Formats: sequence, structure tokens, C-alpha cells
Amino acid sequence: MLRTVNSPVLRLSRPFHIPRVSSLPTRKLATTLRRLANRAVVYSSNGEPSSVLSTISYPDLPPPPPDGVNVEFLLSPINPADRNLVQGVYPVKKQTETLGHSSGVYVGGNEGLAIVKSVGEEAQQQFGLKEGDWVVMGKQQAGTWSSERCVGAQDVIKVPKDIGEVHGATITVNPPTAYNMLRDFVNLKEGDWVLQNGANSAVGEAVIQIAAHRGLRTINFVRNRTDIDGLKQHLQSLGGTHVFTYDDLSDKSTINHIKSLIGGSDPKLLLNCVSGKDTTSMLRLLGADATLVSYGAMSKQPLSVPTSYFIFKNLKTCGFWQSRWYNEHSREEREALMNAIVDIIRAGKLREPEHETVTIPGSTSDEEATQLVRETMRKVEDGAGRKVLLRVENVE
Ligand SMILES: NC(=O)c1ccc[n+]([C@@H]2O[C@H](COP(=O)([O-])OP(=O)(O)OC[C@H]3O[C@@H](n4cnc5c(N)ncnc54)[C@H](OP(=O)(O)O)[C@@H]3O)[C@@H](O)[C@H]2O)c1
Repeated sequence: MLRTVNSPVLRLSRPFHIPRVSSLPTRKLATTLRRLANRAVVYSSNGEPSSVLSTISYPDLPPPPPDGVNVEFLLSPINPADRNLVQGVYPVKKQTETLGHSSGVYVGGNEGLAIVKSVGEEAQQQFGLKEGDWVVMGKQQAGTWSSERCVGAQDVIKVPKDIGEVHGATITVNPPTAYNMLRDFVNLKEGDWVLQNGANSAVGEAVIQIAAHRGLRTINFVRNRTDIDGLKQHLQSLGGTHVFTYDDLSDKSTINHIKSLIGGSDPKLLLNCVSGKDTTSMLRLLGADATLVSYGAMSKQPLSVPTSYFIFKNLKTCGFWQSRWYNEHSREEREALMNAIVDIIRAGKLREPEHETVTIPGSTSDEEATQLVRETMRKVEDGAGRKVLLRVENVE
């Protein structure tokens, strides 16, 4: 259905490269008749994503400015941090935007794969971008739960198409987090042990695979469940050396069994995305001079570390945040990181995360699309088990 409206032009208050309306008097007339060809998943107040998210339509994009590119998002994941941001419990300040008739909205989505639709002159010359290229976002909070956006050419990184859409859509957050945590804290050599919890999370599975690729051995902890054997087999098929449940931590004989498996070569690195008392229990498996790196708190519980670990075992504790890493590193370093992950994918050492794709069809009304987004979020909140990837189609 073709809809024409007296739509205001697209205006973003965030630093995307949409030309100012006042500088484009001739285009203003044209845009007032532009059809609502795009759609975004937005919110205007914090709360549970299944309650506060909605979809809005907005007009076709005007041509990009010289240093910008118009991109169409192909696939954009729903990560835990995206949900936390909507809930208002993630320490990032997102800026509101005006899209079509809707002002003061936040566009959801941080990570995503997009295809370049049109390129500004400088963007072409300086960054070698061209129509049809695949790009990922090198800048945080690009509002990837949308069909088309205009972004700064310096804020995107080209990725090759042979890695496939799913890897492309999930390459900037979880694999680099795993890669950097295994590289930046402890000088690990082949055969060393790494301990981790949340091992079946997307990051955890990337840790298993990247560690195995480097010849590192992993001891992986997950929550118990009905089909725990199936999960253990799955994680071992990815390259996990051993898999245990948190319940095993309360059994002294299992602890001794794990210690015997380690065979006196105590792990020097513990990667934690869960926190709470189970993580405290895992500390006893570490050797002296080990490092505990926390990057998430899925249990929503604080992490308590007995003082004796600091005094007698010289334990070091720190945090890791991939967003901080991106902010502190140059464009060249970000590209190098992406290339390193691409090489691992091409070597067949990193599988796509288990996922489910949810398409927001272009043929639906905004009301129907909103309902679909909220249902999807409800499933994610209930623990979908697989990464959900959104495909927000252009409005027909
Ligand atoms: N710091 C960073 O830069 C960074 C980067 C990426 C991700 N993260 C964080 O890493 C964590 C995992 O992210 P992801 O995208 O990999 O997640 P994901 O694929 O959505 O998986 C979520 C994981 O959390 C576990 N989990 C959920 N609720 C739990 C609870 N109450 N107690 C224990 N485990 C629980 C799940 O286990 P079950 O199967 O048992 O439910 C699953 O292993 C999140 O906290 C995320 O914010 C941090």
C-alpha cells in the first residue's frame, strides 16, 4: 500500500549526517510528499521492552551528505544490553530523535549488518565505500532496529559478504568481547586453562571457540536443566574441554574431580557474566595470581570476593566493556579487530550463534508491527534460548 502524507522531513538530533532542513529549502518541498517508506522500533520512556517498544514509519531518506552513507539494515540482534538500555539500567545516554511525525523517540538497536544504498562524495573518496557494500557499525547505538538510516562514513566498517548475514549482524559485540578478554588480561599460552560461567551465552560460546582455536582449554559452567547432557555435548562440539553446572560447585567430590582434571595447572583467568554466589564458589578453582574479568551480571546479583583471595592468592579483579574498548581505540584498530574475527570465521573456527530471525514485514501496519515486536520481546524476556535477530523491512 502506498501512503502519502504531509510528512515533516526526517530530522535527527543525534550526530547522524542528515542535512539540516534549513540548508535544503528545495528538498523540503519534495520531502513533504515523501511516502513513509521506512520503519523503526522505538521507545520514548524506559520500561520493559515488551511494554514500551513500538514501531513508527518515516519517509524515504534524502541523498546522504558528502561524508555520509545511507544504509539499509539487513539483520540486527536483540542483545541483553539493548534490553537493559530500554529498561533504563544500562549506563549509556542515548539521544532522542525525530523521525517522521514522531519526536523525542529513542531508536532501539546497537549492533547490525547493513547494506550501503548510497554514498556521499567524501565517503566514497576517503573511505572507499560504494553502493552494495556490507557494513557494520563502528559507533555505538546506531539505532539498528530500523530499515534505513543515514550514518557517518567514519562510523561504519566494511565486512566481506562471504561471512554471511548472521555472522555479519553479530560480529561487533560478542566475538570481539571474547577475543579481547582472552588476549588482554593474562598472557595465555597453548594448553592453559580458562574458566568461565554463562558458557552457553553467545559470548561464552565465542570464548569456547576462540580459546580452542588458540589451543587453550576451557572449563565451562552453565545452569542445570532437563537436557543438560545435550547442552554439554553441544558446548563440547564447539571445543569446550569440560562442562559443569553450578550445582556441581556445592559437591566437594566434583570440585576435587575438576582439580584432578586440571592436573596442577591452575586456571589463571576466570571470565564472569553471571556474578552472585555461584561465581564466588568458582574462585576456589583458580590458582595464585589469577585474574577475574567480569563483563556481565546475568544473575542480577552482586559479586562477593572473600578478602583472603586478594591477600593469599593475589587475585586481581577487573571489568571489561567492549563499548569502552571501541571508544578508546582508533578506527584502524577497530578494523583490525573485525579482520581478526573475520579470519577466524573464514577458518571455520567460529560458528554462527544459534538464532531465530524475526521479520517485521513491510506489509503490516505500525500497530501490527508493534504487536509483533512486543510479542518477540516477551519471548526474549522469558528466555528465548536463542539469539533473536530482527529484520525490519521497508514499508510497502
Ligand atoms: N561487557 C561487554 O562488553 C559485554 C559484551 C557482550 C555481552 N555482555 C554481557 O554478557 C552477558 C551475555 O550476553 P550474550 O549476548 O552472550 O547473552 P545471551 O546469548 O542472550 O545468553 C544469556 C546467558 O545468560 C544466562 N542467564 C540468564 N539469566 C541467568 C541467571 N539468572 N543466572 C545465570 N545465568 C543466566 C543464560 O543461561 P541459561 O541458558 O541458563 O538461561 C545464557 O547463558 C550479558 O550480561 C551481556 O550484557 C557484555
